[in-house]
Amino acid sequence: MKLETTYMGLTLKNPIIAGASPLTASSDSIKRLEDAGVAAIVLHSIFEEQINHESHEIDHFLFKGGESYAEAVGYFPDMELSNLESEHYLEEINTLKSSLSIPLIASLNGVSRGGWIEYAGKLQEAGADGLELNITYIPTDIEVDGSMVEKLYLEALEAVLETVSIPVSIKMNAVFSSPANMAKQFSDKGAKGLVLFDRPVQVDVDLEALTAVQTIRPSSAAELSESLRWSAILYKKVAASLCASTGVHTHEDILKAIMSGADTVQMVSALMKYGESYVDRVLNDLSTWMEEKEYDSIAQMKGSISLHHTANPAAYERANYMRILTEYRY
Ligand SMILES: Cc1cc2nc3c(=O)[nH]c(=O)nc-3n(C[C@H](O)[C@H](O)[C@H](O)COP(=O)(O)O)c2cc1C
Repeated sequence: MKLETTYMGLTLKNPIIAGASPLTASSDSIKRLEDAGVAAIVLHSIFEEQINHESHEIDHFLFKGGESYAEAVGYFPDMELSNLESEHYLEEINTLKSSLSIPLIASLNGVSRGGWIEYAGKLQEAGADGLELNITYIPTDIEVDGSMVEKLYLEALEAVLETVSIPVSIKMNAVFSSPANMAKQFSDKGAKGLVLFDRPVQVDVDLEALTAVQTIRPSSAAELSESLRWSAILYKKVAASLCASTGVHTHEDILKAIMSGADTVQMVSALMKYGESYVDRVLNDLSTWMEEKEYDSIAQMKGSISLHHTANPAAYERANYMRILTEYRY
């Protein structure tokens, strides 16, 4: 059974990548993940706020401070880069690289054009095999339009790509007006991988404290839908490889993602729930299913139910929407 696949130019022994999380923040659990069979690790993120001392100025560097947007995005502030957290992250990469036999992808989480971009170069020097860029910007300013936000993402990617030669992926969110076009622009700029999608922290209201709070709850398999939809739409449309993320909990979810067009998947919530050894079970279930259905390889299944190969393209488009709603019985 050939479970190999490729992702952002890296050859992986199977499609399961452990996503950025507390599980990839400790060398012990990373070792357990490797032993259980994951094909690659995305290290927990290092955040712009941990790299730049002056990160409280982020908004200033984006759209404010009396500068026009065009000027602001071209502005590289001179920031002090070195601090304990960012140094520690580099040491972690260095140490892990000497013990791991699977690819290690660093995760850089930032949004401004601040000094954190230079830090990408240090991640490469430390030995990271790839870099996952998580640009999380929530445009609360009602004057900031979609094109400004898109430009911000594209310019951050461009700046990182100028700094490193290792493959870079973007952990996308699904809330762009046209996710497919954004994916194409990321890919055309040089992103080698697209992670579909990031799962933002949730907002809630604490009715006792009467305040807004942020929470992070594990995902459920019911959240897989958007990754499937956009993998299916983007399959063979972009040069970058695709990684389905959010709601991948079982071998069946992996099969669905691969058939939709993903090259790999990332798992976090299911591994946090069942432990690192769960990877071994999922890989066994995956091989058993493929054997029973007489598939020889992941490559053979890839994209078989993508937008252009499915017998039911309407499932990914508006066409079916009215029928589903009007025929629903309760
Ligand atoms: C506790 C926790 C911590 C996380 N930390 C990070 C992080 O540091 N960087 C990041 O890009 N994503 C982080 N994520 C998001 C996951 O990498 C992943 O995108 C998300 O959980 C969806 O995948 P899942 O459905 O398999 O859980 C975190 C998720 C959880 C639950």
